[in-house]
Parts: sequence; C-alpha cells; structure tokens
Amino acid sequence: MPSETLPPRRLSVAPMLDWTDRHYRYMARQITRHTWLYTEMINAGAVVYGDAERFLRFNEGEQPLALQLGGSEPALLAKAAKAAAQYDYNEVNLNCGCPSPRVQKGAFGACLMNEALLVADCLNAMQDAVQIPVTVKHRIGVDRQTEYSTVADFVGTLREKTACRTYIVHARNAWLDGLSPKENREVPPLKYEYVYRLKQDFPDLEIIINGGIADNEAIAGHLKHVDGVMVGREAYHNPMVMREWDALFYGDTRAPAAYAELVQRLYEYSQTQIQAGRGTILRHMVRHYLGLMHGLKNARVWRRMLSDVALLKDNDGSLILAAWREVEKANAWDA
Ligand SMILES: Cc1cc2nc3c(=O)[nH]c(=O)nc-3n(C[C@H](O)[C@H](O)[C@H](O)COP(=O)(O)O)c2cc1C
Repeated sequence: MPSETLPPRRLSVAPMLDWTDRHYRYMARQITRHTWLYTEMINAGAVVYGDAERFLRFNEGEQPLALQLGGSEPALLAKAAKAAAQYDYNEVNLNCGCPSPRVQKGAFGACLMNEALLVADCLNAMQDAVQIPVTVKHRIGVDRQTEYSTVADFVGTLREKTACRTYIVHARNAWLDGLSPKENREVPPLKYEYVYRLKQDFPDLEIIINGGIADNEAIAGHLKHVDGVMVGREAYHNPMVMREWDALFYGDTRAPAAYAELVQRLYEYSQTQIQAGRGTILRHMVRHYLGLMHGLKNARVWRRMLSDVALLKDNDGSLILAAWREVEKANAWDA
C-alpha cells in the first residue's frame, strides 16, 4: 500500500504476543478496512538470524500494517527494520513497554524507558535504514517513577534526538519487580491525563493512547485529546467491536461486514490456508475466532465447537460453518 493512500492512525489494534498473528489480523481486516494492525512483538534477532519468511510474511490485504520489533542493539534493529520495509510493512515500531522478565534479561522492552539515549540510537539506526515511519510504544514510567516528568522527559529526549514523530503510550507504569506481565496490564493505575498532557506539551507529535479502552464512546472521548486510540484486549475478545470503527472514526459509509459474510470469508480463508500445506491447521486460525459472536445467543456453543479437540481433529473448515448455523438459528436477524 503506497504511503500516500494510508489512513491516519486514528484507530489501531495493539501488538499482542501469541494473539495478533496473521490469522487474527486477517479476521480483523475483514471487520475494519482502515484500522492499523500491529504484529506481535518479534525479536530483531529472530528476523535477522532466523527464518525471516516465517516471522514476516502476511496476508494480502492486511495493510495498513506495522511490524513491532523487540531489541536494543541499533545495528540489529536497523537490519530487522530493513527486512520489514522489504516485506512492505507500512511502519516499524520499537517495543519499549513490555515488562516480561525474559525481555528484561535481554535489556529491552519497558526497561528501555530508563535509557532514552540508547532508544534514540536504536530509532535513528532504524530510520536511517528505511523510508517507512519508525515509531515507538512505551509506558508512562517504570517501577516507582510516578511523576509526569518521567514520560515527558523520555518523549522530549526522543523528539529532540530522533525523527520519530509517533508515540504510542500505554497509560500505566510497568512494574518490573514482582508483577507478572498479565498483572502489569491490570494493576498499575491508568493515568490517561499524562497522555493528554503529552499532546498538549508536544503538539507537533502524533500521540496515541492505549490501555483499558473498550468501547466506542470511550474511544470518541479520548480522540478529543489525542491523535489516536490503540485497543488491545477488547479487539481480541470481542472483535466485532471494530465493526463500527470505519463509519464512526474514518467516515466510511459502506456497510460493515455482516456476520454471515464474515463467517463465509473465514471459512474460505481457513480452507485455503490448510490446503496450502505449509503446516497451518484449523486450530491455528479458529482459536482467534472464539470471541466473534460475543453478545449473541449461542455464542457459547460457537466457542465450544471451535475449541472442541475432537471436532478440530478433522482439520476441516466446515466446522466454522456448522458452528455458525447454531448461532444463526438462535438469533433474530433484521438484515
Ligand atoms: C496477550 C497479550 C500480549 C501482549 N503482547 C504485547 C507485545 O508483543 N508488544 C507490546 O507492545 N504489547 C503487548 N501487549 C500489551 C498490549 O499491546 C497493550 O498495550 C495492553 O494490552 C493494554 O491495552 P488494552 O487494555 O487495550 O488491552 C500484550 C497484551 C496482551 C493481552
């Protein structure tokens, strides 16, 4: 997708390890045309020294799409960014927000918030290697840094020393000691006002807010203060929340995908992927579809069927159609 036709980053789906793989992203893209999608965090070393094709390939039509990289070695990140550009990603993002102990050992993720100058070197090396935008995703502080100045200094330093103009801010601290990654997405308090303040203090930067945002009303509220909203868990557990986004936030008046049409596309996609014979099995795809019928009658039947080991064993996408029939007959459809 050429950069001049890219939509703004008003809405995006967060990078989520093990969740936002290409199968999830294929589904998300059938629901919203304009929302930016992010890959799971991929270690820069895995891209450069590992099987790049395995980590980087994506489905046609997935763009606008950003590759999120983990790492803290400028030269390695530059090489990985270059590979991303060659694969036609629209953006490459550096993770400065992940609190997992494994990532801390590699000295990247959230602990990079204490090393703004190193982050600047990383971003500059990446940007020198590619034409696509290099962006950063971070927290508002680590451990006991609770003052606004922590995140303001971090962003201010990067603004001064790099060409990075897009900052995705998960509006809570990362506590590197004593909390699991899951707890780190729930326990440290959300401070949206810090992110709003960043936009006021750095009006020339694109500031995107993230953390605990779950419905369209909340999204619209945040967009009064910042340039964009990134949604993670809700977009995964209830993908149809994205159904209204093109109309509400991008002014696209085309009708959103109907459930039946979406199910048909997912069925066709699954069959194509299985038949391609590259090791993709039905379970790899349908595990991301479990939340699709959220709020409808028989949503539980849908979930149960698509996670039933005995039914999945046949590796036949018709299971999606069979589960859909259970939902379809239980609900009254007005269109
Ligand atoms: C299962 C899972 C995996 C995640 N993996 C990543 C990741 O790879 N990179 C990253 O920057 N954040 C990751 N996150 C954090 C999300 O991107 C996001 O910042 C966080 O979930 C808060 O947004 P939410 O409240 O809308 O979910 C992950 C979150 C979840 C739930």
